[in-house]
Amino acid sequence: PLIELQYGKNVLAKRIKSYFSIQDVHIVKGDSSEPGGSNELLGTEAASVFAARIGNGRVVAVTGGSTMAAIPKHLSCYPGAEETVFIPARGGVGDNIGQQANVIAATFAHTCNASYKSLYYPESLSEEAHAIFLKEPSAQKMLELYETTDCLLHGIGDAKKMAALRDSNEEEQQLLDSRGAKGEAFGYYFNGSGEIVHHLRTVGIQTDHLKRIPLLLAVAGGSAKAEAILSYLRGATKQTVLITDEGAAKEIVNLL
Ligand code: G3H
Repeated sequence: PLIELQYGKNVLAKRIKSYFSIQDVHIVKGDSSEPGGSNELLGTEAASVFAARIGNGRVVAVTGGSTMAAIPKHLSCYPGAEETVFIPARGGVGDNIGQQANVIAATFAHTCNASYKSLYYPESLSEEAHAIFLKEPSAQKMLELYETTDCLLHGIGDAKKMAALRDSNEEEQQLLDSRGAKGEAFGYYFNGSGEIVHHLRTVGIQTDHLKRIPLLLAVAGGSAKAEAILSYLRGATKQTVLITDEGAAKEIVNLL
């Protein structure tokens, strides 16, 4: 049965990798959406893929969320870790302090004696306040770091859940619905065809940065998130490495 399980995962991984022409796909067992499911195996796998692939990369941007929060504790020191700078890939979202990109960047850094930089930017700012914040030296410094980012480690969220987490007003939720938003990653909402249908005002990684970031690790699992992950994959840049679980992978392949 174990061999069958491995074979099943490998076949799913190959199918997803070739269908979307992405760098690689890693699938862990289980379905993190099931009752009692967790992100621990995703965290373990993501930590090991990150350590194996980071190479000489020195600037690592990380997003927030429960999946990202499960990674640092599984990370062991890798060569050159102490020269790495972890930075938040986006501003603050929601109330859960442990799941903020700032906290996760700092936790990564503590785990492997690296350093980190914080960005105190709430993603709920008005257009006016955002324009003023952009002139702040701390925002400018972060924008410069995004230009030299070597790795982006990010989660993928369900569009509706992310909009609720952000306390989006009814107008924004209706806009997302009418545009068929399925998934969200680093402030961008994607429809079922992988097109960007909405973009948040945020200081953070922008899709223009993605083309030149050599290592993109997308970590998201659970059958309930399959549509969200699929929406991201449909527009994914070729250097993307997906780390997911069987629950999501099976459902993604069913939806192709
Ligand atoms: O941007 C996506 C979300 O951060 C995903 O959050 O891992 O808690 O589902 P999650």
